[in-house]
Amino acid sequence: MSNRPLNVGLVGGGKGAFIVNPHQKAIHFDGTRRVVAGALFPDPKIAMEEAAKWPYPIKGYGSYDDMIAANKTLPEAEKLDYILIVTPNFVHFDPAMKAMKAGIAVFCEKPLCLNLTEANELVKTSHALNVPFGVAHTYLGHWTSRFSRYIVQSGLLGDVRWVDSYYIQGWLATKLEATGQQQASWRVDPKRAGGSGCGGDIGTHALMQLRYVTGLNVTEVSAQMETFVEGRQLDDHFTIYCKLSNGGKALVRASQICIGHKNDLGITIAGTKGTLRWRQEEPECITICLPNQPDRVYWRGAVAGGDGFLPQELPADLMAEPTIPAGHPEAFHDAFARLHRSFEADVRKWKAGEKFNSDGSKYANVEDGWTGIAFIETCVESSKHHGAWTAMPKK
Ligand SMILES: NC(=O)c1ccc[n+]([C@@H]2O[C@H](COP(=O)([O-])OP(=O)(O)OC[C@H]3O[C@@H](n4cnc5c(N)ncnc54)[C@H](O)[C@@H]3O)[C@@H](O)[C@H]2O)c1
Repeated sequence: MSNRPLNVGLVGGGKGAFIVNPHQKAIHFDGTRRVVAGALFPDPKIAMEEAAKWPYPIKGYGSYDDMIAANKTLPEAEKLDYILIVTPNFVHFDPAMKAMKAGIAVFCEKPLCLNLTEANELVKTSHALNVPFGVAHTYLGHWTSRFSRYIVQSGLLGDVRWVDSYYIQGWLATKLEATGQQQASWRVDPKRAGGSGCGGDIGTHALMQLRYVTGLNVTEVSAQMETFVEGRQLDDHFTIYCKLSNGGKALVRASQICIGHKNDLGITIAGTKGTLRWRQEEPECITICLPNQPDRVYWRGAVAGGDGFLPQELPADLMAEPTIPAGHPEAFHDAFARLHRSFEADVRKWKAGEKFNSDGSKYANVEDGWTGIAFIETCVESSKHHGAWTAMPKK
């Protein structure tokens, strides 16, 4: 493949949509990827109007079926290299399957899909067809998440005993969906969101952060899924006590009814030698607490080995990932860009017929997406039985 920018097609993103915006900025971040096409809305006429109004020229399609079908006949330089799926959860499975079958790589929003039946099919198909598949768990893209993963998985905190991984919001503390607010409306509807509201929407981020940083899996859950806002069908408060694959314990918790909390995602990891703390609302630093020592705060871009905690040599690929010096803040958009940059590398290898390594170390892959859905289904089951310990299914 030439070094032309990768061509990305959007599924969803028209008319007041939210998450397409950071994504499309992140796609253009390096000049090596660009959005060239979009099926932006379910109604074909509106989809075309929205594409015509896009801030830069893109080819509009009336539906994702049309966009995927048209790809076959396009000249090589214009073909889509990957699609980005930024629709509500009930419109993830179908475009993802169709794109993979048409030989187009897929970067899909979380949660992966609606249920385990769909998730099984997505995993099976991406393996059978050997197509790169990324899932947009944004927060893995912070450099500090990568650094935390290195610290924990190289054993610097000792054995992990306890993890508190959380995502707390307050925007659904009232019945916002009754006002017709777009993002609230589908998130509280089981047909469009899936079996969990708060858990599926943001509990899956907390789970992914735990799994990514520690490398551990949840083996059993005792779940309390609660609904505080009257008349709402799905949970808006999600508290899950977990057993971890190394014998440790964790709390994975999320809420959308805690007024004042905005996007309060964070993680505390307590090991036998020390504790790590990180919050995405202050994403440029992590705190390490060691017994009988002042706490150490490490800032992205200003980390050096051999300081009495970190080893002399730090991994070269990790240290090369920051894009700007310390003190010029990286944040949400940079995290998205780092995910797309990592996904691009795999798509380029795939296109060149080389082996690509979608192993979850740089972005969440389809198996991670599967685990998120399996977690939700297990929590629903446990919560129905008043928090009874329930095992996660095997892949
Ligand atoms: N990674 C993150 O940090 C993050 C943050 C927010 C949302 N999300 C996820 O992103 C997805 C979208 O969420 P959102 O808040 O942007 O939703 P949204 O309602 O703002 O946007 C959804 C878009 O999909 C379009 N759409 C719906 N059905 C379609 C169809 N059949 N064909 C084409 N377009 C269609 C809508 O018209 C709209 O443009 C969800 O899965 C959500 O969980 C992820």
